[in-house]
Amino acid sequence: MWQRYNQFKERGLKLDMSRGKPEKAQLDLSVPMLRIDDGWIDDDFISEDGIDVRNYGDPTGIPEAKRLFSELLGVPAGQIIVGGNSSINMIHDTLTRALLCGPMEGDTPWAKLPRVKFICPVPGYDWHFHMCETLGIEMIPVELEPGGPDMDKVEQLVKDPAVKGLICVPMYSNASGITFSDETVMRLASMKTSAPDFRIVWDNAYCVHHLYENDRDSLMNIYDACVAGGNPDRVLMFTSTSKVTFAGGGVAAMGASPANIARHGALLTCQLVCYDKLNQLRHVRFLPDKAAVEAHMAKHAEIMRPKFEFILDVFEKELSGTGTWSQPKGGYFICYYAPEGCARRIVELCRDAGVTLTPAGSPYPHGIDPKDSTIRIAPTYPPFSELRLVIELFPVAVKIAVAEKYGN
Ligand SMILES: Cc1ncc(COP(=O)(O)O)c(C=O)c1O
Repeated sequence: MWQRYNQFKERGLKLDMSRGKPEKAQLDLSVPMLRIDDGWIDDDFISEDGIDVRNYGDPTGIPEAKRLFSELLGVPAGQIIVGGNSSINMIHDTLTRALLCGPMEGDTPWAKLPRVKFICPVPGYDWHFHMCETLGIEMIPVELEPGGPDMDKVEQLVKDPAVKGLICVPMYSNASGITFSDETVMRLASMKTSAPDFRIVWDNAYCVHHLYENDRDSLMNIYDACVAGGNPDRVLMFTSTSKVTFAGGGVAAMGASPANIARHGALLTCQLVCYDKLNQLRHVRFLPDKAAVEAHMAKHAEIMRPKFEFILDVFEKELSGTGTWSQPKGGYFICYYAPEGCARRIVELCRDAGVTLTPAGSPYPHGIDPKDSTIRIAPTYPPFSELRLVIELFPVAVKIAVAEKYGN
């Protein structure tokens, strides 16, 4: 095995598979959006409500962009705030407001409480965990099962009034690729929490990121479930076009109850005059509705699908019986679950042979994977031709690490 490994090493590979970034061919799909002659007419900068998008105005977004995100998030357009280029930024702002001002007028600002805890389904998104850590929110990891977090555990934890929220990626989850079941959504929406200002941060970043036309996960509308459960203010939903158009150059949005939107809309006005409405209008001219987004996402899937299938095929051939892995139908990641105690070593071996993976442990709060088992693989960034050349390194690294730990 070392001989095969050294052969990889001698090839002088250099590949970054650490983050879920689109590859160039995916970014190229949205370039027509930037062409003046394709999307803009000389003086056609006026949004539906008559605002010139080149000027100040519409702090919560232009109406046509609200309509688009209302379709994606499943709430009326009046319950949408269209933001800037980042949903992570909107989530950070939302949590910061809860900490400094309280989730609603009259609520105690969370930062004035002795402890604020959030439930964090794991494996999860490292950026959520950095954010909570930086903001002083204690994280309680709860294992993700095939249908979502262990709900018996969640229902137990929310009896603690210091548990103020849960942060998750409910569809094609980063990192495990699972989608919350209807039962999970209903239990989250209707469970009894000790904290009346309990919030679910529903980061639906991958809501339209299906790999297959006819074999897709579907996610129940949690806002409707919260209303039915008598908890309309419980959920704060987010998404963005970072992985639809341009990563870091897209448009983000938040959807929630009328009371939450009123609260955040009001607090927003001391933060900025308005977001980038030119980008909002550019986006809706290019992708006017959900049907257009889905047609566009089918083109992304054409580029991404062969990579996912190739990796899964290599795992099947080379790793059967050694660890397990996810088989996602969408999203950006494959998770490999190594035999316990091997993940760090596998990532190290790959790194030493020129392939950078997401650091082992990063899908867990504070970077601590108690089993040292989960490895998030991000197949999207390298073009397929490069991915093909290097992915066979991974099983070799796995076999070496497992042999070192457990013997042959
Ligand atoms: C779950 C999740 N949320 C949010 C983001 C980032 O979104 P944005 O670019 O809108 O901040 C990512 C990117 O990897 C992600 O995986």
